[in-house]
Amino acid sequence: MTDTQHEQLLIIDFGSQVTKLIARRVRESGVYSEVHPFNRVDKAMLEAFNPKAIILSGGPNSVTGVGTPRADNHVWEMGVPVLGICYGQQTMCEQLGGSVESSDDKEFGRADLEIVADNELFEGLDKTERVWMSHGDRVNAMPQGFEIIGKSNHAPFAAIANSECKFYGVQFHPEVVHTINGAKILRNFTHEIADFKGDWTMAAFKGEMIAAIKDQVGEGKVICGLSGGVDSSVAAVLIHEAIGDQLTCVYVDTGMMRKGESDQVVSLFKEHYDMNLIHVDAGDEFLGLLEGVSDPERKRKIIGGTFIDIFEREARKVGGAKFLAQGTLYPDVIESVSFDGGPSVTIKSHHNVGGLPDRMDMELVEPLRELFKDEVRALGQELGLHKDFVERHPFPGPGLAIRCPGVITKDRLDILREADAIYLDQIKKHNLYNDIWQAFAVILPVQTVGVMGDERTYENVLALRAVTSTDGMTADYYPYSHEFLGETATRIINEVRGVNRVVYDVTSKPPGTIEWE
Ligand code: XMP
Repeated sequence: MTDTQHEQLLIIDFGSQVTKLIARRVRESGVYSEVHPFNRVDKAMLEAFNPKAIILSGGPNSVTGVGTPRADNHVWEMGVPVLGICYGQQTMCEQLGGSVESSDDKEFGRADLEIVADNELFEGLDKTERVWMSHGDRVNAMPQGFEIIGKSNHAPFAAIANSECKFYGVQFHPEVVHTINGAKILRNFTHEIADFKGDWTMAAFKGEMIAAIKDQVGEGKVICGLSGGVDSSVAAVLIHEAIGDQLTCVYVDTGMMRKGESDQVVSLFKEHYDMNLIHVDAGDEFLGLLEGVSDPERKRKIIGGTFIDIFEREARKVGGAKFLAQGTLYPDVIESVSFDGGPSVTIKSHHNVGGLPDRMDMELVEPLRELFKDEVRALGQELGLHKDFVERHPFPGPGLAIRCPGVITKDRLDILREADAIYLDQIKKHNLYNDIWQAFAVILPVQTVGVMGDERTYENVLALRAVTSTDGMTADYYPYSHEFLGETATRIINEVRGVNRVVYDVTSKPPGTIEWE
């Protein structure tokens, strides 16, 4: 739980796939919100959290089923506005004396909501709104004191309100983008109904975090593993702003980085930010250990294990450091409700440098653990990191090793690095970089015949990959124009010795993964 002084909104999670989106939407309008699983929310927790408003999420269960999740009854006694979404609406109705039925009239996807009463929740909206539904059950009788404020073809109680108590329920999902005015509805709830000031900004967060880091660390020393990625970089800059020289960053260069990347990292942190930075050039060590290895899992294990060994060795040299900083983000911290709604709760704990904290027995400093990725980017900019840097595509820990199927050699890595740099240059030139989640080249372990000039060639094949995604869990291939692909292939073949054929990967995830290994 946060110790910030801000007004906060509590989201009680009943296991919906999109609960995190509620938190994001609410935060986008300057309201700090946290997600907590329903079975961790009781009277004591509610009183300690002291929410200014509560949102009940959707969930996979049926309110009509025996033993299915309910909100703690103290929710209705706190005198704060409550908004129930989908399952949240249904359990609110059932708990307050209405009823819910399982219906054959299921509704999935887009629907039209007809707004049938003037209500503060729908202030500023049209009489008909496009919304997103996903439900089998529906409310069939409202609790006392409620009125219908919106209907759809299949849900006569699609939106209900008890304005006196400030309890609201919607069958549709305002948190997804397919509900066209969903953000406006949530904003009406937070700003108009619950009277939030909306003062949760990145500038405020930065100030609070700097104070919190100083408080946690005191005079102690902190070690931070820098990967060159956005999360660890933002964490490092924030901690540096808080404690200056007490921070030492360790950058382990695996030799599997992209063209120019290590130089950029070192110059940014050492020269621009004047940080204590240990740059370990371990490329030869990694290459030696990977010699002859083609199995993807073995590559990952070798790189992961060696990385930890080197990091630990270097960190020990700093002497007396009690704290280890990590760029853990909020999606890794949120506890998710298990699907049977039972008490078993999965806690996802993500370590950027897997296994390190346990082994090193250090106290963690995780200043980003309340933030979503887009918020980390905003914080990065607030800290003065360049936009191009904070908007960089994700890059995997094992680096180019998993973009080099088959055995890894220095020659193959060099070819891949050159081609990848041209590919990214093309993307930036055509202004496509920010439309794409991730783009990279893969050097294939096959050679094909070609002809250049009058000469027969027998050289490497390069695959290009580009995907769109919101979280890396699912992805679509990016639909480049043929002109773009043709121009890029020509540039790579002309400018990189050792490549005579370029192909484009049009596999989505699933069934493919984003990386090739
Ligand atoms: P896949 O290939 O599983 O990748 O679809 C999903 C996202 O995760 C990244 N990725 C990794 N990141 N260490 C990381 O830090 C890894 O071992 C790793 N493997 C995949 C991948 O680049 C994509 O963004």
